[in-house]
Amino acid sequence: MTATMTPRKRFLAALRQQPVDRPPVWMMRQAGRYLPEYREVRKGHTFLEMVHQPELATEVTLQPLRRFGFDAGILFSDILTIPEAMGMNVQFPEGGPQLTPVVRTAADVAKFGHVDVREKLGYVEAAVKMIRGELGDHHALLGFSGAPFTLACYMIEGHGSKTFELTKTLMVQQPEVMRSLLDLLADVVIDYLQMQLEAGADAVQLFDTWAGELRRADYDAMVWPSTKRIVDAIQDKGGQIMVFARHPGHLLDSTMTLGADGLGLDWRIDMAEAAAKASKQALRPALQGNLDPIELFAPAAHIERRVKEVYESVGGGTGWIANLGHGVIPPTPIAGVEAFVNAVHALKSKTAVPHVPCSHCRCGSEHAAP
Ligand code: CP3
Repeated sequence: MTATMTPRKRFLAALRQQPVDRPPVWMMRQAGRYLPEYREVRKGHTFLEMVHQPELATEVTLQPLRRFGFDAGILFSDILTIPEAMGMNVQFPEGGPQLTPVVRTAADVAKFGHVDVREKLGYVEAAVKMIRGELGDHHALLGFSGAPFTLACYMIEGHGSKTFELTKTLMVQQPEVMRSLLDLLADVVIDYLQMQLEAGADAVQLFDTWAGELRRADYDAMVWPSTKRIVDAIQDKGGQIMVFARHPGHLLDSTMTLGADGLGLDWRIDMAEAAAKASKQALRPALQGNLDPIELFAPAAHIERRVKEVYESVGGGTGWIANLGHGVIPPTPIAGVEAFVNAVHALKSKTAVPHVPCSHCRCGSEHAAP
């Protein structure tokens, strides 16, 4: 079908739950090791060099946009830039990130001073500006941050974990220490996301990857308040924010009330149920997701069927951003990513969009009015 909106307009309209010509599409971890051109850049640099050098971060952010018809790019970076800016040593050896010295006591939290994000994370600001310069107003650009709880998990455990026992131990033994850490992190996250929005990001996503490890009462008491404070602070200044969590099922009634512009959901969620829940909210979030990244290994016909299934289950497109339920994994076949994007491109929104010829960008398609 003929595209009638620019990717950026399409993405932002979907996030605002306005009519679109077709749903927008991007993928978490769309830049990464499944791409030969990423592996080529990575050969000459460590992952942290790629994160720290705006030219390299810009290059790998743009790679998936050159190859696939994604509507949004996501800043190439990592959630662990924040603990690093706070003074922790962060390394990425084979097998996942390692952070030292770990946080275990009130004194450990107290030693973190105020973080001037422009000073410590100026390389991220520079990367966002550079990427925006390359994208013009054609593609949407997402910034992001780790959410306080997920950042706290890495800062307390010192690495990833299956059980998060040290984090949970701190929560039950010294809840005030956990609260003060989450509060401190929320302050930094707000400044960091605000900086990215001012530098040219269209919207930001908060990754609360490990929030689903908590029971709902603990999420509500410990994690919801700092997350809500971030959502409110970003929106108060006119920004748009999406919140993503893995294993989000038992938390949905809580995350729905954050008032986020969008909620990223994983593949365990029935999107029809989530859409019904969302429509009952005073501040209804757009929904994003939710194929299992492993489904990209399936034949194209499976991917196409599943994309249509999710599209139908959210009611035909408005307020839905096509994505996976978590990040693309390194062995993913390129053909699977192509099949996913093509399947979304073939959809037509059930809500019509006013149609005028393009006169304001270089995309060669026809657009809705800017
Ligand atoms: O989505 C994108 O394309 C943007 C880039 C991005 C990366 N990390 C690049 C990356 C984003 C948004 C992240 C967020 C991130 N980082 C999260 C939250 C999202 C999620 O995946 O749950 C988390 C938990 C991290 C921490 C992290 N960084 C881990 C656990 C790892 C190791 C796992 C792995 O894949 O190796 C990383 C490294 C990392 N972050 C890589 C990339 C492309 C691989 C680095 C490499 O090239 O060796």
